[in-house]
Amino acid sequence: MNNKLKAAVKKELHCGLEYLKAEKIKKAFYHLERAHILGQESPYYHTASHLYMLYAAIIDKNIREVIGQLFRIPTGFIGSIVGIFPVGNTGRSNISAFKPMPLPKDLQKVIDSSR
Ligand SMILES: [Fe+2]
Repeated sequence: MNNKLKAAVKKELHCGLEYLKAEKIKKAFYHLERAHILGQESPYYHTASHLYMLYAAIIDKNIREVIGQLFRIPTGFIGSIVGIFPVGNTGRSNISAFKPMPLPKDLQKVIDSSR
């Protein structure tokens, strides 16, 4: 992962964490999903996005999301290490962990410009 993509992931994780601190869960998840989309190729950032989502799910008392994130933390880490992950997937438990999804246009531009 190059520095431009890394900076974009860090920005989304930071925004997500700030919204978590403010207990604005919906906005937090929005940014954490974006961090997940951008960070999947990195075991570190992929796992970080799921850990933050786990934290958000706990604050939100969303048991389904907690369970989903507990599954996604190890599988996401391994997927990133072996280079197998569904492009565009948001990382939430309301979507299959293996389903590719269309990339938001602005994130596609970030990814394209970082290659
Ligand atoms: Fe994931």
